[in-house]
Amino acid sequence: KHRVFSGIQPSGNLTLGNYLGAVKRFVEMQDSGIETIYCVVDLHAITVWQDPEKLRHATRELAAAYIACGLDPTRSILFNQSQVSAHAELGWLFNCVARLGWMNRMTQFKDKAGKNAEKASLGLYAYPSLMAADILTYQATHVPVGEDQKQHVELARDIAGKFNHDYGTEYFPLPEPIIEGAATRVMSLRDGTKKMSKSDPSDLSRINLTDDADTIAKKIKKAKTDPEPLPDSVDGLDGRPEAKNLVSIYAALSGKSKADVIAEFAGQQFGAFKPALADLAVAELSPITARMSDLMADPAEIDRILGDGADRAAALAEPVLAGAKDVMGFVRSR
Ligand code: TYM
Repeated sequence: KHRVFSGIQPSGNLTLGNYLGAVKRFVEMQDSGIETIYCVVDLHAITVWQDPEKLRHATRELAAAYIACGLDPTRSILFNQSQVSAHAELGWLFNCVARLGWMNRMTQFKDKAGKNAEKASLGLYAYPSLMAADILTYQATHVPVGEDQKQHVELARDIAGKFNHDYGTEYFPLPEPIIEGAATRVMSLRDGTKKMSKSDPSDLSRINLTDDADTIAKKIKKAKTDPEPLPDSVDGLDGRPEAKNLVSIYAALSGKSKADVIAEFAGQQFGAFKPALADLAVAELSPITARMSDLMADPAEIDRILGDGADRAAALAEPVLAGAKDVMGFVRSR
């Protein structure tokens, strides 16, 4: 039986990268009729310090963004991680299955911890083990993510595989990363070799889901490009990271292939391409931004939706956790 799980950290504004690489895909999977579970991973966010008031706000804002982008909390399960204690509990069990050597290979830890890894939290190091628990406490089979999360989903497979092997069982399915579409790695608008990220110090490097139409247009106009016109084949984008990024974004927003976008704009200057891209981005994002701010006007309703989702999530997660405890030999009286 197929079951989809994915999550996003409430650690700042959602970017166009999160939208094209993740949320837009989450909505497509919901609409394809598979059982879908989507999480606001607040326990992951605190692996680096979060101001409590800002964390509360970002959690509600991310829930609003999910819904504004088309997630239906009656068809998908939508909740925040900290309300379902099975995540943290199974995370501990997995800390005892995962190996230090596996954790040491995680590139995201190396990036986030930086040069002074001694000062990073233990949680940041164990982060991928909690992520494996998120996925496996629902025995999820498919995990839609952007390119940058592939290594973590593969680690979840390794943990599931080692658990099964160590206890002589087939208890956990090996989850598959689903990395599809034209924009699985949206790059910074200021540097085509860097990922677009919520945490980049330059706001010009990204488009936020909360940006208004003028801001979006301005950021695209200022986006870094090279002086050449657009090439006449997709291969012509090789070695031109900024051009490739803008064409990929256009393709993902319009639902066209990169080849079709190239066919339409071959030989044209960025001066012509950028306004077309800005129009497309504004047309897709403006209604989302407007719906988000409507939803944010009623935080109690968002909290109610998250609580309802957490109840339904816990009903699925708790028996799976209990089964894992039985497999491992814990005495369980209830
Ligand atoms: P996070 O919060 O960094 O990002 C959320 C999702 O957005 C994708 N993404 C991108 N896709 C394309 N281009 C980009 N520039 C870009 N930036 C981000 C990410 O790949 C991700 O799919 N560890 C996860 C959250 C998580 C999770 C999980 C995901 C926790 N538990 C269980 C799946 C299953 C993270 O930090 O994502």
